[in-house]
Amino acid sequence: MKPATKKVSLARALSKLGVVSRNQARGWIEAGRVSVNGRSLKNPEVRVDPDRESIRVDGRIIRAKTPVYLMMHKPKGVMTTRSDERGRKTVYDLLERTDWIFPVGRLDRGTSGLLLLTNDTQWGNRIVAPESKIPRLYHAKLNRPIATEDLLRLSKGVDLDDHVKTRPAQARLLRLTEKGCWIELTLMEGKNRQVRRMCESVGYRVENLIRVRIGDLGLGDLPAGATRPLTPVEVRSLGRKQAEISRSRTVPASLRQTRSSGRFRERS
Ligand code: URA
Repeated sequence: MKPATKKVSLARALSKLGVVSRNQARGWIEAGRVSVNGRSLKNPEVRVDPDRESIRVDGRIIRAKTPVYLMMHKPKGVMTTRSDERGRKTVYDLLERTDWIFPVGRLDRGTSGLLLLTNDTQWGNRIVAPESKIPRLYHAKLNRPIATEDLLRLSKGVDLDDHVKTRPAQARLLRLTEKGCWIELTLMEGKNRQVRRMCESVGYRVENLIRVRIGDLGLGDLPAGATRPLTPVEVRSLGRKQAEISRSRTVPASLRQTRSSGRFRERS
């Protein structure tokens, strides 16, 4: 018996092969740059089997790329984009490679810390999917000492400026500084500028922000600006299905999802 074919849309096939993002692939296909088994196809939704059919871009055969999984210590002042119209430094300027890889989620220009990069779109999408609930741990320096009730408000969930409520998080004071303090925030989601907006919503300005951990993966002593490949164990630990992640030991017990309620338990 023949094994079943795994047909996906042509745009998805190109992203699965690690060539471009699905959106970019659509543009290439509609521009007539892509052929399948020798025929030019302009419909990004046409179903193909990337393992069995010959897909070419600009006449060049596309083969599945070796998957690449990297961790970068993004320094402050660097953009998480491919190119910047104002010519500012991007994470790609720090990478000594020219093959296509993309950042898994993003960090603001003013944020430093752990950034993942890959050419494996499925793995990357699984990590950023809202339902993945992989904990992201941040250290934030605030402009003034934080009140205990504000830590509690952050951990219960706050209304952001667009009236979206954040999920329960874990928030604790790390230490006081001369004028402010450092807090640790563990989030189970990744909304745009979430840490800064959460802190603003309870009346504090974030003066410095570092992402120190994603799931099991810590920044360790990787110097700012440096990149290292993930080990196979690290790749698997982040690529696990949601059910396994929510049982993982690195999910703080206070944030673990309970099966019955589907909600997060808060710290007592
Ligand atoms: N939250 C923010 O406010 N900024 C980031 O870069 C990441 C999380």
